[in-house]
Amino acid sequence: MRETLEALRQSAVGAISASGSLEALDALRVKYLGKKGELTAILKMMGKLSPEERPVMSQLANEVRAQVERALEEKKAALESQALAARLEAEALDVTMPGRAVTLGHRHPMYIALDEIKEIFIGMGFTVLDGPEVELAELNFDRLNAGEGHPSRDWSDTFYFDEDSRVMLRSQTSPMQVRAMDSMPLPIRIIAPGRVYRKDEVDATHSPMFHQVEGMVIDKGVTMADLKGTLNTLVEALYGKGTKTRFRPHHFPFTEPSCEMDVQCHKCGGVGCPTCKGEGWIELLGAGMIHPRVLEMAGIDTDVYSGWAFGIGLERTAMRRFKIADLRLIFENDVRFLHQF
Ligand code: PHE
Repeated sequence: MRETLEALRQSAVGAISASGSLEALDALRVKYLGKKGELTAILKMMGKLSPEERPVMSQLANEVRAQVERALEEKKAALESQALAARLEAEALDVTMPGRAVTLGHRHPMYIALDEIKEIFIGMGFTVLDGPEVELAELNFDRLNAGEGHPSRDWSDTFYFDEDSRVMLRSQTSPMQVRAMDSMPLPIRIIAPGRVYRKDEVDATHSPMFHQVEGMVIDKGVTMADLKGTLNTLVEALYGKGTKTRFRPHHFPFTEPSCEMDVQCHKCGGVGCPTCKGEGWIELLGAGMIHPRVLEMAGIDTDVYSGWAFGIGLERTAMRRFKIADLRLIFENDVRFLHQF
Protein backbone atom coordinates (compact mmCIF):
# COMPACT_ATOMS: atom_id res chain seq x y z
CA MET A 1 0.00 0.00 0.00
CA ARG A 2 2.83 2.35 0.80
CA GLU A 3 4.20 1.85 -2.75
CA THR A 4 0.79 2.50 -4.28
CA LEU A 5 0.42 5.73 -2.29
CA GLU A 6 3.93 6.88 -3.20
CA ALA A 7 3.29 6.09 -6.88
CA LEU A 8 0.04 8.07 -6.75
CA ARG A 9 1.76 11.01 -5.07
CA GLN A 10 4.41 11.03 -7.81
CA SER A 11 2.11 10.71 -10.78
CA ALA A 12 -0.42 13.21 -9.38
CA VAL A 13 2.14 15.91 -8.59
CA GLY A 14 3.79 15.37 -11.99
CA ALA A 15 0.52 15.54 -13.92
CA ILE A 16 -0.65 18.60 -12.02
CA SER A 17 2.50 20.57 -12.65
CA ALA A 18 2.39 19.61 -16.35
CA SER A 19 -1.27 20.53 -16.88
CA GLY A 20 -1.80 23.56 -19.10
CA SER A 21 -5.34 24.72 -18.45
CA LEU A 22 -7.90 25.13 -15.70
CA GLU A 23 -10.14 22.51 -17.33
CA ALA A 24 -7.32 19.96 -17.46
CA LEU A 25 -6.54 20.73 -13.83
CA ASP A 26 -10.14 20.11 -12.79
CA ALA A 27 -10.09 16.77 -14.63
CA LEU A 28 -7.01 15.80 -12.59
CA ARG A 29 -8.76 16.75 -9.32
CA VAL A 30 -11.61 14.40 -10.20
CA LYS A 31 -9.19 11.70 -11.33
CA TYR A 32 -7.25 11.63 -8.02
CA LEU A 33 -9.51 13.06 -5.31
CA GLY A 34 -13.01 12.54 -6.71
CA LYS A 35 -15.55 10.04 -5.27
CA LYS A 36 -14.41 7.46 -7.78
CA GLY A 37 -10.85 8.78 -7.78
CA GLU A 38 -7.67 6.84 -7.28
CA LEU A 39 -6.94 8.02 -3.72
CA THR A 40 -10.51 7.29 -2.64
CA ALA A 41 -10.10 3.77 -4.04
CA ILE A 42 -6.97 3.25 -1.94
CA LEU A 43 -8.64 4.58 1.22
CA LYS A 44 -11.43 2.05 0.75
CA MET A 45 -8.90 -0.75 1.12
CA MET A 46 -7.72 0.50 4.56
CA GLY A 47 -10.13 -1.89 6.25
CA LYS A 48 -8.12 -4.84 5.06
CA LEU A 49 -4.97 -3.70 6.83
CA SER A 50 -3.78 -4.93 10.20
CA PRO A 51 -4.50 -2.71 13.23
CA GLU A 52 -0.79 -1.85 13.47
CA GLU A 53 -0.48 -0.83 9.83
CA ARG A 54 -3.77 1.11 9.61
CA PRO A 55 -2.84 4.34 11.50
CA VAL A 56 0.49 4.56 9.67
CA MET A 57 -1.10 4.18 6.24
CA SER A 58 -3.94 6.55 7.15
CA GLN A 59 -1.44 9.20 8.09
CA LEU A 60 0.46 8.68 4.85
CA ALA A 61 -2.76 8.79 2.82
CA ASN A 62 -3.74 12.09 4.51
CA GLU A 63 -0.33 13.52 3.72
CA VAL A 64 -0.67 12.51 0.08
CA ARG A 65 -4.17 14.00 -0.08
CA ALA A 66 -2.97 17.27 1.47
CA GLN A 67 -0.03 17.44 -0.91
CA VAL A 68 -2.16 16.77 -3.99
CA GLU A 69 -4.66 19.40 -2.81
CA ARG A 70 -1.89 21.92 -2.28
CA ALA A 71 -0.41 21.15 -5.71
CA LEU A 72 -3.85 21.64 -7.31
CA GLU A 73 -4.33 24.92 -5.41
CA GLU A 74 -0.95 26.31 -6.40
CA LYS A 75 -1.29 25.28 -10.04
CA LYS A 76 -4.73 26.84 -10.19
CA ALA A 77 -3.41 30.14 -8.88
CA ALA A 78 -0.51 30.03 -11.35
CA LEU A 79 -2.79 29.30 -14.31
CA GLU A 80 -5.19 32.06 -13.29
CA SER A 81 -2.49 34.67 -12.99
CA GLN A 82 -1.11 33.50 -16.36
CA ALA A 83 -4.53 33.94 -17.95
CA LEU A 84 -4.88 37.40 -16.41
CA ALA A 85 -1.45 38.40 -17.67
CA ALA A 86 -2.36 37.17 -21.16
CA ARG A 87 -5.62 39.10 -21.08
CA LEU A 88 -3.93 42.28 -19.94
CA GLU A 89 -1.39 41.82 -22.70
CA ALA A 90 -4.10 41.30 -25.31
CA GLU A 91 -6.19 44.24 -24.16
CA ALA A 92 -3.26 46.56 -23.69
CA LEU A 93 -3.64 49.99 -25.20
CA ASP A 94 -1.02 50.84 -27.72
CA VAL A 95 -0.55 54.53 -27.03
CA THR A 96 1.79 54.85 -29.99
CA MET A 97 -1.00 53.99 -32.49
CA PRO A 98 -2.18 57.00 -34.49
CA GLY A 99 -5.61 58.18 -33.27
CA ARG A 100 -8.76 58.37 -35.36
CA ALA A 101 -9.10 62.00 -36.35
CA VAL A 102 -12.32 63.67 -35.19
CA THR A 103 -13.74 65.55 -38.15
CA LEU A 104 -15.47 68.76 -37.29
CA GLY A 105 -18.62 69.71 -39.20
CA HIS A 106 -19.24 73.24 -40.39
CA ARG A 107 -21.99 75.49 -41.65
CA HIS A 108 -23.70 74.78 -44.96
CA PRO A 109 -22.61 77.25 -47.68
CA MET A 110 -26.14 78.61 -47.98
CA TYR A 111 -26.24 79.38 -44.26
CA ILE A 112 -22.81 81.01 -44.51
CA ALA A 113 -24.34 83.32 -47.13
CA LEU A 114 -27.42 83.87 -44.93
CA ASP A 115 -25.27 84.75 -41.92
CA GLU A 116 -23.40 87.28 -44.04
CA ILE A 117 -26.69 88.83 -45.14
CA LYS A 118 -27.97 88.95 -41.55
CA GLU A 119 -24.73 90.56 -40.38
CA ILE A 120 -24.98 93.28 -43.02
CA PHE A 121 -28.60 94.13 -42.17
CA ILE A 122 -28.20 93.88 -38.39
CA GLY A 123 -25.35 96.38 -38.83
CA MET A 124 -27.85 98.74 -40.49
CA GLY A 125 -30.31 98.45 -37.59
CA PHE A 126 -32.65 95.78 -39.00
CA THR A 127 -34.42 93.15 -36.89
CA VAL A 128 -34.42 89.49 -38.04
CA LEU A 129 -37.90 87.90 -38.04
CA ASP A 130 -38.96 84.27 -38.28
CA GLY A 131 -42.37 83.23 -39.57
CA PRO A 132 -44.56 80.23 -40.45
CA GLU A 133 -44.05 78.17 -43.59
CA VAL A 134 -47.70 77.06 -43.41
CA GLU A 135 -49.39 80.36 -44.16
CA LEU A 136 -52.85 81.79 -44.77
CA ALA A 137 -53.58 82.64 -48.40
CA GLU A 138 -54.98 85.85 -46.97
CA LEU A 139 -51.48 86.94 -45.90
CA ASN A 140 -49.60 85.35 -48.80
CA PHE A 141 -51.94 86.91 -51.41
CA ASP A 142 -54.90 89.10 -50.36
CA ARG A 143 -53.06 91.38 -47.98
CA LEU A 144 -50.33 91.67 -50.62
CA ASN A 145 -52.78 93.03 -53.17
CA ALA A 146 -53.07 89.77 -55.11
CA GLY A 147 -56.81 89.20 -54.82
CA GLU A 148 -59.04 86.37 -56.10
CA GLY A 149 -58.16 85.46 -59.69
CA HIS A 150 -54.57 86.59 -59.51
CA PRO A 151 -52.53 84.10 -61.57
CA SER A 152 -50.03 83.35 -58.78
CA ARG A 153 -52.91 81.90 -56.70
CA ASP A 154 -53.36 79.09 -59.22
CA TRP A 155 -53.43 75.49 -57.96
CA SER A 156 -50.82 74.61 -60.57
CA ASP A 157 -48.31 76.89 -58.82
CA THR A 158 -49.16 76.63 -55.13
CA PHE A 159 -49.34 73.86 -52.50
CA TYR A 160 -52.72 74.22 -50.77
CA PHE A 161 -53.90 72.25 -47.75
CA ASP A 162 -57.65 72.63 -48.31
CA GLU A 163 -60.27 72.71 -51.07
CA ASP A 164 -61.06 76.36 -50.33
CA SER A 165 -57.45 77.43 -50.95
CA ARG A 166 -57.20 79.17 -47.59
CA VAL A 167 -54.19 77.44 -46.05
CA MET A 168 -51.00 76.92 -48.04
CA LEU A 169 -47.26 76.52 -47.98
CA ARG A 170 -46.10 80.10 -48.41
CA SER A 171 -44.90 80.77 -51.97
CA GLN A 172 -42.79 83.74 -50.87
CA THR A 173 -41.52 85.34 -47.66
CA SER A 174 -43.53 88.48 -48.48
CA PRO A 175 -46.39 87.59 -46.04
CA MET A 176 -43.79 88.47 -43.40
CA GLN A 177 -44.20 92.10 -44.55
CA VAL A 178 -47.83 91.90 -43.45
CA ARG A 179 -47.03 90.08 -40.21
CA ALA A 180 -44.48 92.80 -39.36
CA MET A 181 -46.91 95.62 -40.19
CA ASP A 182 -49.59 93.96 -38.04
CA SER A 183 -47.38 93.37 -35.04
CA MET A 184 -44.63 96.02 -34.89
CA PRO A 185 -44.65 99.73 -34.13
CA LEU A 186 -43.43 102.13 -36.84
CA PRO A 187 -40.81 102.70 -38.09
CA ILE A 188 -40.04 99.12 -39.19
CA ARG A 189 -36.77 97.69 -40.45
CA ILE A 190 -36.86 93.92 -40.81
CA ILE A 191 -35.45 91.03 -42.73
CA ALA A 192 -37.21 87.64 -42.67
CA PRO A 193 -35.35 84.61 -44.04
CA GLY A 194 -37.02 81.25 -44.56
CA ARG A 195 -38.27 78.43 -46.77
CA VAL A 196 -40.81 78.95 -49.53
CA TYR A 197 -42.62 76.43 -51.76
CA ARG A 198 -43.74 76.38 -55.38
CA LYS A 199 -44.82 73.61 -57.73
CA ASP A 200 -41.61 73.68 -59.76
CA GLU A 201 -39.76 70.75 -61.29
CA VAL A 202 -36.21 70.21 -60.02
CA ASP A 203 -33.48 71.37 -62.39
CA ALA A 204 -30.16 73.25 -62.21
CA THR A 205 -31.89 76.46 -61.11
CA HIS A 206 -35.28 75.34 -59.71
CA SER A 207 -36.57 73.41 -56.71
CA PRO A 208 -40.10 73.07 -55.24
CA MET A 209 -38.59 74.26 -51.95
CA PHE A 210 -36.13 77.09 -51.76
CA HIS A 211 -35.17 79.95 -49.48
CA GLN A 212 -35.82 83.67 -49.63
CA VAL A 213 -34.87 86.59 -47.48
CA GLU A 214 -37.52 89.29 -47.30
CA GLY A 215 -36.47 92.82 -46.43
CA MET A 216 -38.67 95.77 -45.59
CA VAL A 217 -38.40 99.33 -44.35
CA ILE A 218 -41.34 101.58 -43.47
CA ASP A 219 -40.62 105.09 -42.21
CA LYS A 220 -41.31 108.74 -42.96
CA GLY A 221 -39.86 109.95 -46.25
CA VAL A 222 -38.52 106.60 -47.47
CA THR A 223 -37.75 106.60 -51.22
CA MET A 224 -36.50 104.36 -54.01
CA ALA A 225 -33.05 105.93 -53.52
CA ASP A 226 -32.92 104.34 -50.03
CA LEU A 227 -33.81 100.99 -51.58
CA LYS A 228 -31.06 101.24 -54.21
CA GLY A 229 -28.49 102.45 -51.70
CA THR A 230 -29.29 99.63 -49.27
CA LEU A 231 -29.23 96.92 -51.95
CA ASN A 232 -25.96 98.22 -53.39
CA THR A 233 -24.46 98.09 -49.90
CA LEU A 234 -25.66 94.48 -49.61
CA VAL A 235 -24.21 93.46 -52.97
CA GLU A 236 -20.83 95.11 -52.35
CA ALA A 237 -20.58 93.46 -48.92
CA LEU A 238 -21.42 90.05 -50.42
CA TYR A 239 -19.56 90.17 -53.71
CA GLY A 240 -16.90 92.83 -53.24
CA LYS A 241 -16.51 96.58 -53.70
CA GLY A 242 -17.38 97.88 -57.14
CA THR A 243 -19.75 95.00 -58.03
CA LYS A 244 -22.09 96.47 -60.62
CA THR A 245 -25.88 96.26 -60.29
CA ARG A 246 -28.71 97.09 -62.63
CA PHE A 247 -32.35 97.88 -61.79
CA ARG A 248 -34.98 96.87 -64.36
CA PRO A 249 -38.67 97.77 -64.22
CA HIS A 250 -40.83 94.81 -63.28
CA HIS A 251 -44.24 94.02 -61.82
CA PHE A 252 -45.26 92.71 -58.39
CA PRO A 253 -48.80 93.22 -57.08
CA PHE A 254 -47.57 94.52 -53.71
CA THR A 255 -44.97 97.05 -54.88
CA GLU A 256 -45.31 100.12 -57.08
CA PRO A 257 -43.06 100.90 -58.77
CA SER A 258 -41.46 97.47 -58.90
CA CYS A 259 -38.07 96.39 -60.16
CA GLU A 260 -35.72 93.49 -60.46
CA MET A 261 -32.07 93.93 -59.59
CA ASP A 262 -29.36 92.19 -61.61
CA VAL A 263 -25.68 91.85 -60.75
CA GLN A 264 -23.01 91.81 -63.38
CA CYS A 265 -22.02 88.22 -64.27
CA HIS A 266 -19.13 87.02 -62.11
CA LYS A 267 -17.96 84.61 -64.83
CA CYS A 268 -17.62 86.96 -67.81
CA GLY A 269 -17.72 90.41 -66.22
CA GLY A 270 -20.69 91.47 -68.33
CA VAL A 271 -19.57 90.32 -71.78
CA GLY A 272 -22.00 87.40 -71.98
CA CYS A 273 -21.33 83.71 -71.30
CA PRO A 274 -23.22 80.43 -70.62
CA THR A 275 -23.55 81.21 -66.87
CA CYS A 276 -25.50 84.42 -67.58
CA LYS A 277 -27.07 82.93 -70.74
CA GLY A 278 -25.28 85.54 -72.84
CA GLU A 279 -26.89 88.42 -70.93
CA GLY A 280 -23.86 89.66 -69.00
CA TRP A 281 -26.19 90.09 -65.99
CA ILE A 282 -27.74 87.70 -63.48
CA GLU A 283 -31.10 88.37 -61.84
CA LEU A 284 -30.73 88.46 -58.06
CA LEU A 285 -33.87 89.85 -56.47
CA GLY A 286 -37.24 91.54 -56.80
CA ALA A 287 -38.01 94.80 -55.05
CA GLY A 288 -40.03 97.97 -55.08
CA MET A 289 -41.84 100.67 -53.13
CA ILE A 290 -44.60 99.10 -51.02
CA HIS A 291 -47.95 99.56 -52.76
CA PRO A 292 -50.08 102.16 -50.91
CA ARG A 293 -52.95 99.67 -50.84
CA VAL A 294 -50.81 97.18 -48.90
CA LEU A 295 -49.92 99.86 -46.35
CA GLU A 296 -53.56 100.94 -46.09
CA MET A 297 -54.78 97.37 -45.50
CA ALA A 298 -52.39 97.35 -42.51
CA GLY A 299 -53.85 100.65 -41.29
CA ILE A 300 -50.72 102.68 -42.08
CA ASP A 301 -51.21 106.34 -43.07
CA THR A 302 -49.71 106.66 -46.57
CA ASP A 303 -49.63 110.45 -46.30
CA VAL A 304 -47.03 110.12 -43.55
CA TYR A 305 -45.31 106.79 -44.22
CA SER A 306 -43.80 105.07 -47.18
CA GLY A 307 -41.65 101.97 -47.51
CA TRP A 308 -39.74 99.62 -49.69
CA ALA A 309 -39.35 95.87 -49.76
CA PHE A 310 -37.23 93.30 -51.49
CA GLY A 311 -37.11 89.51 -51.75
CA ILE A 312 -33.84 87.76 -52.52
CA GLY A 313 -33.34 84.09 -53.40
CA LEU A 314 -30.89 82.62 -50.94
CA GLU A 315 -29.73 79.64 -53.03
CA ARG A 316 -28.90 81.90 -55.95
CA THR A 317 -27.06 84.28 -53.67
CA ALA A 318 -24.95 81.43 -52.28
CA MET A 319 -24.39 80.03 -55.79
CA ARG A 320 -23.02 83.37 -56.93
CA ARG A 321 -21.13 83.95 -53.71
CA PHE A 322 -19.35 80.56 -53.91
CA LYS A 323 -19.48 80.12 -57.72
CA ILE A 324 -21.67 76.99 -57.55
CA ALA A 325 -23.07 75.99 -60.93
CA ASP A 326 -25.98 73.71 -59.97
CA LEU A 327 -28.72 74.39 -57.40
CA ARG A 328 -29.10 70.67 -56.66
CA LEU A 329 -25.64 70.59 -55.05
CA ILE A 330 -27.01 72.87 -52.34
CA PHE A 331 -29.65 70.31 -51.31
CA GLU A 332 -27.87 66.99 -51.88
CA ASN A 333 -25.62 67.37 -48.83
CA ASP A 334 -22.76 65.42 -50.36
CA VAL A 335 -19.99 65.83 -47.80
CA ARG A 336 -17.35 66.00 -50.55
CA PHE A 337 -19.12 69.09 -51.85
CA LEU A 338 -19.84 70.69 -48.47
CA HIS A 339 -16.25 70.28 -47.30
CA GLN A 340 -15.09 72.87 -49.80
CA PHE A 341 -16.54 75.92 -48.06
N1 PHE B 1 -41.98 88.04 -53.29
C1 PHE B 1 -41.37 88.33 -54.55
C2 PHE B 1 -41.03 87.00 -55.24
O1 PHE B 1 -41.08 85.97 -54.62
C3 PHE B 1 -40.12 89.14 -54.40
C4 PHE B 1 -40.37 90.52 -53.89
C5 PHE B 1 -40.31 90.77 -52.52
C6 PHE B 1 -40.64 91.55 -54.76
C7 PHE B 1 -40.52 92.05 -52.05
C8 PHE B 1 -40.86 92.83 -54.29
C9 PHE B 1 -40.78 93.07 -52.96
O2 PHE B 1 -40.76 86.97 -56.43
